[in-house]
Amino acid sequence: MVKICCIGAGYVGGPTMAVIAFKCPAIEVAVVDISVARIAAWNSDQLPIYEPGLEDIVTQCRGKNLFFSTEVEKHVSEADIIFVSVNTPTKTRGLGAGKAADLTYWESAARMIADVSKNDKIVVEKSTVPVKTAEAIEKILTHNSNGIKYQILSNPEFLAEGTAIQDLFNPDRVLIGGRETPGGQKAIQTLKEVYAHWVPEDRIICTNLWSAELSKLAANAFLAQRISSVNAMSALCEATGADVTQVSHAVGKDMRVGSKFLNASVGFGGSCFQKDILSLVYICECNGLKEVANYWKQVIQVNDYQKNRFVNRVVSSMFNTVSGKKIAILGFAFKKDTGDTRETPAIDVCKGLLGDNANLSIYDPQVTEDQIRKDLSMRKFDWDNPIHLQPMSPTVMKQLNVVWDAYAATKDAHGLCLLTEWDEFKTLDFKKIYDNMQKPAFVFDGRNIIDEQKLREIGFIVYSIGKPLDGWLKDMPAVA
Ligand code: NAI
Repeated sequence: MVKICCIGAGYVGGPTMAVIAFKCPAIEVAVVDISVARIAAWNSDQLPIYEPGLEDIVTQCRGKNLFFSTEVEKHVSEADIIFVSVNTPTKTRGLGAGKAADLTYWESAARMIADVSKNDKIVVEKSTVPVKTAEAIEKILTHNSNGIKYQILSNPEFLAEGTAIQDLFNPDRVLIGGRETPGGQKAIQTLKEVYAHWVPEDRIICTNLWSAELSKLAANAFLAQRISSVNAMSALCEATGADVTQVSHAVGKDMRVGSKFLNASVGFGGSCFQKDILSLVYICECNGLKEVANYWKQVIQVNDYQKNRFVNRVVSSMFNTVSGKKIAILGFAFKKDTGDTRETPAIDVCKGLLGDNANLSIYDPQVTEDQIRKDLSMRKFDWDNPIHLQPMSPTVMKQLNVVWDAYAATKDAHGLCLLTEWDEFKTLDFKKIYDNMQKPAFVFDGRNIIDEQKLREIGFIVYSIGKPLDGWLKDMPAVA
């Protein structure tokens, strides 16, 4: 029986390994983590992450060929293939702070592999890492090898949170990069055979190591760039009377552009897009490619601009002040069908409104009060200026209320901001909400999910990103 061990039981390690175990009953899969709480949750009825379809797969395989454990060294030493799926956040201090990927967790995992291994191993980079990381890992392993042979593969993960299981069952592609040596090619073949249990061969792309590592950064940069492009257009639409949904529909009909990922919104979030683009920017700068670095940096700058623009629109529409006013925030996760709040635009929007003294009442179907308070009290990571970080003051935190119902959140509110596109928000009884709000009642739709005409008929003043402004908003001061 082939034994696989995955270091890191997070959003990637958990679902990817569950699917490998499910599709390959003859492979034993152990997912290990240093976090006792996380492993305990994986072994309980309350999984540590919410992902449609995940629970079903985990319960079918757990205890048979899928194990979650904190015995990291034991499982690593027994495995033939070791996936490393640890976090690779942006460095917040030291050289490259605010841009470079922090490889502390990766390096410590690699050193531990070298310490405990007793037979030859294939080590697979599952985490998103800067191009050329495999070379560093290879050095750590071979300089501590005691005669053991290691093959490093890059197998970046392309799943999207919220559709992880669907994406893993039916991936657009699986990418495997390895050394162009007989040993490297054999390792590629071994990993390919694992995926070939369910992925058609023509969707398994094999490349050299550096192409695989860079492709993941490039893919995320391209995806984020589409969002920033349409968001930049949304600002121009508001200024000119064009409707961004009509513009993106017309643009996306061109086969060369395609229609996906062209929805204007309050901005992209999630743990990956910003950090991976910053990592790309840093790599470009280190290679003397200033113009290329600046090009990609703009994608993040437009994203920050979009979040600020949204806050400014809320404040300026409500007579240029939200001080002491109750604002309902519907949705806090960075997108629907996940409870993940990492880099969610809701953090910046809420902080902006709290900064203007608003009282916030927040509801998200999958995010706990603890998480929301933690996110909003944490120092804001300012990628452009990582040294001067300020935490939220305790006084400001008193302006915050977290509730478990959209109607409670909106009761007596002056304004309502929709920040996550949860399906349940589309079917809310907006007449009831309107009746219970202060007047004039404002809706600011950061995801373009509501029918703004219907809401206007009820009596709301409505702002939808990139859509023609109604009379009220046009009369308010321009938003930069
Ligand atoms: P995560 O933070 O949810 O999980 C990482 C886990 O690794 C944590 O539970 C942590 O305790 C554990 N860990 C860290 N060092 C360890 C060590 N030395 N030994 C054992 N466990 C250790 O991170 P997530 O979201 O799963 O991301 C992992 C990697 O995958 C990152 O590089 C990310 O960029 C990449 N990725 C993430 C995607 C996503 O949607 N979240 C999608 C594709 C790639």
